Amino acid sequence: MLRIGKVAIENGLVMAPMAGITDISFRLIVKRYGAGLVFTEMVGSNGLVQGNKKTREYLISAPEERPLCVQIFGSRPDVMAEATRIVVEMGADIVDINMGCPVKKVVKTGAGAGLLKDMELTKRVIGAVRMVCPVPLTIKIRAGYEVNNPVFIEIGKMAQDMGVDAIFFHPRFATQGFSGRARWEFIRELKSRVMIPVIGNGDVFTPQDALKLKNETGCDGIMIGRGAVGSPWIFKQIIDIMNKKTPEIPTLSDRKRIIIEHYELMVRYRGERRASQAIRGMLLWYTRGLPYSSRFRAMVGKIRDKETLIRLLDDYFDSISKEKITYREVMA
Ligand SMILES: Cc1cc2nc3c(=O)[nH]c(=O)nc-3n(C[C@H](O)[C@H](O)[C@H](O)COP(=O)(O)O)c2cc1C
Repeated sequence: MLRIGKVAIENGLVMAPMAGITDISFRLIVKRYGAGLVFTEMVGSNGLVQGNKKTREYLISAPEERPLCVQIFGSRPDVMAEATRIVVEMGADIVDINMGCPVKKVVKTGAGAGLLKDMELTKRVIGAVRMVCPVPLTIKIRAGYEVNNPVFIEIGKMAQDMGVDAIFFHPRFATQGFSGRARWEFIRELKSRVMIPVIGNGDVFTPQDALKLKNETGCDGIMIGRGAVGSPWIFKQIIDIMNKKTPEIPTLSDRKRIIIEHYELMVRYRGERRASQAIRGMLLWYTRGLPYSSRFRAMVGKIRDKETLIRLLDDYFDSISKEKITYREVMA
């Protein structure tokens, strides 16, 4: 059991925030397949405070996905505090401060991973948010900004002293983007230096990876990003492997059913036209590692509605159903 302040997360498995991906329909899908905690995409504090309609749309949520962690980003303490009030009023069960986004446009303003470069500002941002935040407060960090200039211990201790309730840790440096490997040994180090929960993140693509991350670092929870996109069932598989059961591999018809389920949720929240466009991107992830997927991908532009989606899926899955798909192939 992972406990973040007063919020209990039964299985300790967390879906990472992913801009452009973790919208409400995505969150509901991973929740159905075992995620214990879901995050919104990162939400801009300036847009929230200015009442930007599109920014507020990121906060639409459903009771079934709770507890919900809302991630905000920004670098102005007063604006971040005001944004916190707004997201809590709109139902956030946990508020998270983004301190890892390496995108230039964000870093330039001092936000995201920019905060890793300015300890004083970070302190003021955390202080301002903590002061007004009645629900648990977390931070999501990288190891540091520049390669070989780690700041995670310093930030972790400071956050703990300031009343932050947990740390989500992706142990790469911001300038690395996604290159190299996640340095799990840093997670172990942070875990040994702070008392608050440390949730390990980075490069978990199989249930076996999750088990290894837990065993090697002693982390309190596991956060998964890319490994769950197009494979929401990874959470159930991790629960199985933690319970010493063989993880169940979804059959082709399971996959088809889950894709349609995901599409139906998209339709519910976006309408058929927008859902038919959005599912195209998701299908690239859902067919990752499957045979002849490039042939299928070339056709996804034809999806207009549920009927065309089902026809395309039937054609593709029928054509590969005779192929023997092993777990290793699927996850490759
Ligand atoms: C497309 C994409 C969007 C992301 N968006 C966010 C975000 O909005 N906020 C955030 O803190 N991290 C974001 N991340 C980083 C992930 O949350 C996670 O830390 C990272 O992908 C490493 O985990 P993984 O190896 O399991 O994917 C994003 C990553 C990707 C690939």
